[in-house]
Amino acid sequence: MRVKLSYFYALIFTASAISIYVAFWGAKHLNEASIHASLSPSYNDFDISREKIILYWGSTIPKRCDYFTFTKTGPSFEDLNCPVNNCVWTDDKTKVKEADAVLFFDHCLGEVKPPERNPRGRWVFVDHESPCNSFRYLDKWDGLFNWTMTYTKDSDIFSPSLHFVNLPNHGDYPLLSRERSLSITRGKSKLVAWMVSHCTTHSRREEYVKELQKYIPVDVYGKCGPLVCKKGDTRCSEESLNNDYKFYLVFENSLAKDYVSEKFYTRLHLNVMLITRSGANFSRLGIPDALHIDTRDFKSPKDLAEYLKRLDKDDESYAALLRAKANHRYKILNSRYSYCDLCKKLNDPNEPRKSYSAAEIRNQHGFCVSPHNLRPRGRSRQPRGRHA
Ligand SMILES: *[C@@H]1O[C@H](CO)[C@@H](O)[C@H](O)[C@H]1NC(C)=O
Ligand SMILES: *[C@@H]1O[C@H](CO)[C@@H](O)[C@H](O)[C@H]1NC(C)=O
Repeated sequence: MRVKLSYFYALIFTASAISIYVAFWGAKHLNEASIHASLSPSYNDFDISREKIILYWGSTIPKRCDYFTFTKTGPSFEDLNCPVNNCVWTDDKTKVKEADAVLFFDHCLGEVKPPERNPRGRWVFVDHESPCNSFRYLDKWDGLFNWTMTYTKDSDIFSPSLHFVNLPNHGDYPLLSRERSLSITRGKSKLVAWMVSHCTTHSRREEYVKELQKYIPVDVYGKCGPLVCKKGDTRCSEESLNNDYKFYLVFENSLAKDYVSEKFYTRLHLNVMLITRSGANFSRLGIPDALHIDTRDFKSPKDLAEYLKRLDKDDESYAALLRAKANHRYKILNSRYSYCDLCKKLNDPNEPRKSYSAAEIRNQHGFCVSPHNLRPRGRSRQPRGRHA
């Protein structure tokens, strides 16, 4: 039960982190809907005369599944400014027979199923967690879903927690000059930071970091590390990553296809090189190599450590990495914009009928992958007592 609860709180935390971040971001970065719209094809043959109802099939436990706080803020399709805008949001379960879409969240599938369905409506499987933390109750819903709406690009409605979009470079002056990047580099006195609160993970990131620490110092903040990170603590603030640290670890708790959590996107704007460890193909997600150092490009934690040590001694090279990162133009979109895609799809007369078996949903998301650049669990241990 403790495990389940902490998972639940992790979701809540993620959700509030995303909404806070997005609220913060929204003030500075307008026109997200128009960027989103420009990515969408045309929709001339859509019949938008009838309102489309999207029913959120939440939970009997209040707020249990509503981690995007939709029910709290109300149906906000208007605020989203979607290109196709005739959808309304409801959590009134009595509408299940008329709903055009019913949304179900993976981790709440253990609860009651709707007693009936609209034969023309779509039941949508929604999930933002990796396969390592998903699909627990999916077998009970075998054949019942029509669409998937998740973080994988292969799902019917691509809905990552945050969405990376490259922007054209208009040839305007760089955001970070050579001079400035060098002065930032010279001002940094610390090497690697990691802030983390889940200490034992599927990806075994904690073991990778332990291995790394044999060769270079890694300052581990938060619940798992020796360093405490309290609110307002300057040692682990964004300013500190900007000014003091050269590298920051963005290690996913699970390795899986297309799975990149918000912790990558929310640190991208800082003048610190992000070191990623993930199962996603970043190019497939449109994310250029210049934005991160990928642990998969190194044979071992030791090789990575050697590379970082070389960069630490070479201000010009490190500053060049910072510049390449800072001068790349992109935008981060909120996952709420995937609801525009849902609305559009609901209006598309050419959308075929389809449904998914549980196995097909699993296949679409791929496996929870084991790390290949760590020794297999268990086998490598020294016999007990040989080492202190
Ligand atoms: C990663 O994605 C890119 C772009 O889709 C593709 O060309 C490349 O083959 C992929 N790499 C791997 C290792 O799958
Ligand atoms: C949705 O899935 C159900 C159950 O498999 C199926 O009966 C129904 O025809 C599907 N509807 C659409 C619109 O694809």
